[in-house]
Amino acid sequence: MLKKVFGSAVFGVEATTITVEVNVDSGIGYHLVGLPDNAIKESNYRIAAALQNNGYKIPGKKITINMAPADLRKEGSAYDLTLAIGILAASKQIEAPDLEKYIIMGELSLDGSLQPIKGALPIAVKARAEGFKGFILPSQNAKEAAIVDDLEVYGVDNIKQVINYFDKGELLEQTIINTREEFYKNLDFPEHDFSDVKGQEGIKRCMEIAAAGGHNIILIGPPGAGKTMLAKRLPSILPPMTLHEALETTKIHSVVGRVKDTGLMAQRPFRSPHHTISDVALVGGGAFPQPGEISLSHNGVLFLDELPEFKRGVLEVLRQPLEDREVTISRAKFTVTYPSSFMLVASMNPSPGGYFNDPDAPVTSSPAEMQRYLSKISGPLLDRIDIHIEVTPVPFEKLSEDRKGETSVEIRKRVTKARALQTKRFAESETVHYNAQMSTKQIRKYCVLDEASKQLLKTAMERLNLSARAYDRILKVARTIADLEGVEAVNGSHISEAIQYRSLDREGWLG
Ligand SMILES: Nc1ncnc2c1ncn2[C@@H]1O[C@H](COP(=O)(O)OP(=O)(O)OP(=O)(O)O)[C@@H](O)[C@H]1O
Ligand SMILES: [Mg+2]
Repeated sequence: MLKKVFGSAVFGVEATTITVEVNVDSGIGYHLVGLPDNAIKESNYRIAAALQNNGYKIPGKKITINMAPADLRKEGSAYDLTLAIGILAASKQIEAPDLEKYIIMGELSLDGSLQPIKGALPIAVKARAEGFKGFILPSQNAKEAAIVDDLEVYGVDNIKQVINYFDKGELLEQTIINTREEFYKNLDFPEHDFSDVKGQEGIKRCMEIAAAGGHNIILIGPPGAGKTMLAKRLPSILPPMTLHEALETTKIHSVVGRVKDTGLMAQRPFRSPHHTISDVALVGGGAFPQPGEISLSHNGVLFLDELPEFKRGVLEVLRQPLEDREVTISRAKFTVTYPSSFMLVASMNPSPGGYFNDPDAPVTSSPAEMQRYLSKISGPLLDRIDIHIEVTPVPFEKLSEDRKGETSVEIRKRVTKARALQTKRFAESETVHYNAQMSTKQIRKYCVLDEASKQLLKTAMERLNLSARAYDRILKVARTIADLEGVEAVNGSHISEAIQYRSLDREGWLG
């Protein structure tokens, strides 16, 4: 007897429905065709044990399983449940007239309990689009799948529940969440708040500008100055995610199986990979390409703490995705693209020993050591960072003050207002949405300076010995400062503030 069951395969952030045909006939043998990888071939043993332990069995007959489309590579153990239910139905151990209305997925343990799968959200999106009635999956993934409306989502813990549902009509508990309500409820409670940071008004201002224009930023300062603390709080002042952005970001986290309990992510992601990270883990890759940290920070912040400690090659591979805001990974037979639109925040000590130009420093570094340290970050990557700012530790009296600083929510209001101006400015453009993304042509158009400001910039460039690459960056940042103020024309005060944020371009840092 022939039975059909449905599963799904995830490529990039899209899913494709997989038809699993199970044929049970007289004879002997077990044949699995349609390009399944090793994990699926091994499923045979898991399924046999799981069925046995629940009072069923793989029949001693000729079983042929075909997974279509055949030209699509199918990965992983997530088809255990699909296959098991298909075998039970095709061998008439269970009645399952409605089987074809569901996507069924899950990895089996030997006792029949279910392990979570990856990509539940993209699978659910596809299932709804193709008109499936429901999606049966491990309970750990039920919430993220239930983000999708008009699809019955059933989280189960054991194959027995699924068997009894189809065979005996025993009800499964449907996972229902009000996506919008949950989303807006979680939106206003940032985990880390700027009000925790004492003093550092100048740096906070700088972070506000970075957030408002989407500018990449690097914080330079000695150990303990609060760089990590400040960086962590950047997502909390970015404009709230839209539902669409939240869905995009959650999909990527779903693909790596890392959606938390909240279902739809309401907070912008903050990713802080260790400096020993490999380039594959950072930008994505592998035989079945998985998204890397840059995609997990999509619509949020990627924080590279201690930037010069990262391997040079790793920093090199960052350049393209920073520009394109997505990363394409090619394999012999297919390519996948993951979005990677993130804000880069980096931090570094001013020298390998941690201090610079500080007579009280506990360690000093030789000029050669300094050069080697800084050479890693010079050039192309630094070219993509608009704002450089030095962070000095706040004095003890400040730290012990009780006065609370401004909250992230208050700062975010100003940021959101400035972003709204930019959205309007770039309404016509498909690729540019905020100031940091402006092309040279757009900079000439939107950052027009009067004679006095032009002169001011020229003098500063000469006197501070700023490099040519600093020029456009200063104009962009000045544009954002003007937007925060709500004024149309970029003026001298905006320019002179923006000039301060180019520490690394000055003489004595990078030669
Ligand atoms: N302005 C501040 N307000 C309140 N706490 C602060 C401030 N600056 C530093 N701290 C405290 O000091 C700790 C160390 O700060 P943090 O780890 O952010 O420093 P860092 O600059 O990243 O240092 P490192 O270079 O060693 O990584 C923080 O966890 C925080 O408790
Ligand atoms: Mg730190």
